[in-house]
Amino acid sequence: MRNSLRSHGGLVSHLSILIIATFSTHLLRQVFAIPRTCNLFQGSWVSDNSSKSNNIPLVYDSSQCPFINPLFDCAKHGRPDRGYLRYRWQPSACNLPKFDGKVFLEKLRGKTIVIVGDSISFNQQESLTCLLHAAVGPNSKITTGTMGPYNSNYVTFQEYGVTIAEFYTRFLAQITTEKIGRVLKLHLINDYGNVWKDADVLIFNTGFWWDVNGNQKGWDFIQDGENNPIVRDMDRTLAFRKALTTWAKWVDSGVLNFAKTKVFYQGFYPDHYRPSEWGRPELKDCAKETEPMSGSTYPAGPPPRLSIVEQVLSSIKSPVQFLNVTTLSQLRKDGHPGRYSDAGNGFVDCTHWCLAGIPDTWSSIIFAYLTLDENMA
Ligand SMILES: *[C@@H]1O[C@H](CO)[C@@H](O)[C@H](O)[C@H]1NC(C)=O
Ligand SMILES: *[C@@H]1O[C@H](CO)[C@@H](O)[C@H](O)[C@H]1NC(C)=O
Repeated sequence: MRNSLRSHGGLVSHLSILIIATFSTHLLRQVFAIPRTCNLFQGSWVSDNSSKSNNIPLVYDSSQCPFINPLFDCAKHGRPDRGYLRYRWQPSACNLPKFDGKVFLEKLRGKTIVIVGDSISFNQQESLTCLLHAAVGPNSKITTGTMGPYNSNYVTFQEYGVTIAEFYTRFLAQITTEKIGRVLKLHLINDYGNVWKDADVLIFNTGFWWDVNGNQKGWDFIQDGENNPIVRDMDRTLAFRKALTTWAKWVDSGVLNFAKTKVFYQGFYPDHYRPSEWGRPELKDCAKETEPMSGSTYPAGPPPRLSIVEQVLSSIKSPVQFLNVTTLSQLRKDGHPGRYSDAGNGFVDCTHWCLAGIPDTWSSIIFAYLTLDENMA
């Protein structure tokens, strides 16, 4: 085990986390006592033709993975180009290690990872499970189900006792059903917080649904504080900040055992519906995109709410690792299903991500933190 970890090009000595320099020194002290020479989130996408055929993705063949949601299975739904699978994320100051499923499973033997958040969490969960499935081979014993011990969709790799679960919640906050209807309670963490707290690894996100209107949005009323009035709506940016702050307070409330549980916040997943953001105002959406942006900055800059995520995270006293994947994902306007999913009716999906695809890079970053960062491991 030691040897296989060492063989990753000494990432232990490289991995590190300039980005967090912008966080409060308090957080810095708690989390990042590792050498700070490389920011994994700062870099660019480079084309990589290292596997033999240009039709074979760098990571796994999506047709061989049994876990991919039809919304994400772009190849199966006829996406003709494969170039988007042939880019590798290259941090500026070091290399991102290749995801090694066997190392991951050994290191996490007996453990449960729970990914909590909106449907992009399914993208993340399915990427991890496809990568692990490709590593263990088709004959390994795998159990899947819904509503397991974490009230979630789960996949268990039996030989290793490793479970990867997804708990779907749009807001992280609690929605209660009352006589007047569904009330989104910004001051309460989702009831299942009491269940998640026992996981070994927790990965959180929230984002997309804070801007949805009408019946689809998932609640009828909103409330911030038990003694405050229940109202029909409020400023959504403020609501997002309040709910994220509630989550942050929950993280710091003492319910989590940080000796056992590693906590990540993954923020903020960009969509690609506004092509003027990336300098193509003549387009309607992401549908015709087949290549990433070059370079390491997104012309429109980060989404405004990312700064809220950064502010709230910097107020947390407990060790939470921020997975700052926003910019690297913004650069991948070519990574979405577009028309190539089962969403139907000509719907162009520029929110979710194809699998195989960009979520596999998020998985490699999680792999780096869980297996190679001695402070996390
Ligand atoms: C996250 O990454 C972006 C782009 O590299 C950067 O501007 C921002 O400062 C980073 N956030 C933190 C907290 O390091
Ligand atoms: C990789 O292959 C593609 C398609 O054949 C080609 O366009 C690209 O230039 C190649 N990249 C490198 C770095 O060789």
